[in-house]
Amino acid sequence: MGFEQLAYRGLETGSRELVTHAVKQDKIIFLFVSPLTPGNEEFGAHLQKHGDGVKDVAFEVEDCDFLVKKARERGAVIVKEPWIEEDKYGRVKFAVIQTYGDTTHTLVEKMDYSGIFLPGFQAPLSKDPLLLKLPSCKLNFIDHVVGNQPDNEMVSIVDWYQKNLLFHRFWSVDDKQLHTDFSALRSIVVANYEETIKMPINEPAVGKRKSQIQEYVEYYGGPGVQHIALNSSDIISAELKILVDYDEKGYLLQIFTKPVQDRPTLFLEVIQRHNHQGFGAGNFKSLFEAIEQDQAARGNLTVLTANGEIQSLFFKGATFCFDDCFAHSWHSLDELQEVVTGNGLPTILKEFPEMLSTCWPFCLHSAVQLTPNHLDWVQTFVN
Ligand SMILES: [Fe+2]
Repeated sequence: MGFEQLAYRGLETGSRELVTHAVKQDKIIFLFVSPLTPGNEEFGAHLQKHGDGVKDVAFEVEDCDFLVKKARERGAVIVKEPWIEEDKYGRVKFAVIQTYGDTTHTLVEKMDYSGIFLPGFQAPLSKDPLLLKLPSCKLNFIDHVVGNQPDNEMVSIVDWYQKNLLFHRFWSVDDKQLHTDFSALRSIVVANYEETIKMPINEPAVGKRKSQIQEYVEYYGGPGVQHIALNSSDIISAELKILVDYDEKGYLLQIFTKPVQDRPTLFLEVIQRHNHQGFGAGNFKSLFEAIEQDQAARGNLTVLTANGEIQSLFFKGATFCFDDCFAHSWHSLDELQEVVTGNGLPTILKEFPEMLSTCWPFCLHSAVQLTPNHLDWVQTFVN
């Protein structure tokens, strides 16, 4: 994506617990951190629970002590009190504040620092010689960082930003605007006073299928960062298949990656704005439909009841969850229920015995794995 190594901290620099690779493109800096020893409580435990993801979103600030004082007065959890690190290039003050889930914000106040990155970091151990020959990807700064929350927790997190970091509401959409045929979400964007930092906060809304936000929360193990949007001055040369959203004043162009790790959690966005400060509400539907295709392939586009519970049918204590596989076979849950409660199932099983051995085991939500040997059992029950 056009990033180059900026700085390194690890065993070679005297860091015995953690290794950190900092990569940079224009104003965007990502730190990739791993624990060096087994049983590391802070990063090891986080990795074990959440998988790869965003542990911390750092803000460069002018007055770390003032912000910590205000946040503490208003009830925020201060994970690490202000401290100063220094080397021969100067000093930097840090503090860490808890936000949603296990996510934190590090406040970074560069007091008089002139080194390549931060105290304790050195130049990368090696540089990729090919990078110089590759064209620029033209990614310039972090446009917004989105946090997914469990159901009904969005507003309290929005309030947290308003109260503790003195942010204000910048933009919002509800589930009437943000929905597909299957799933829906609500989103409120909070911003700092200067509106240089924008943090959209999402929560799932009840739809016919499990929301992608709910899928995220289940795989991440609670609230966390869903995507990081990188602002580009030239998305056309950076990417293909770009989505367009607009109003009477301007437009924005955006494109999204698939999850950047194995769990279906964090992904990236590239965005270019032309006098338009929205977040692509007009593009959400096509984005969501693309995500839902992947969600279905993962077996997670689960059918929900009107109350948002997983739709299932009960047979003798075993729960069968009818997911997308069944929806394809029978087009709708009603039709399937008709089949199961009427006399259709034995016929179908007789005609398509492979349904038992191939389709059903993937559709089972719990308990019993159906194989052809269960045919008699199912037929007995239905009869
Ligand atoms: Fe976004």
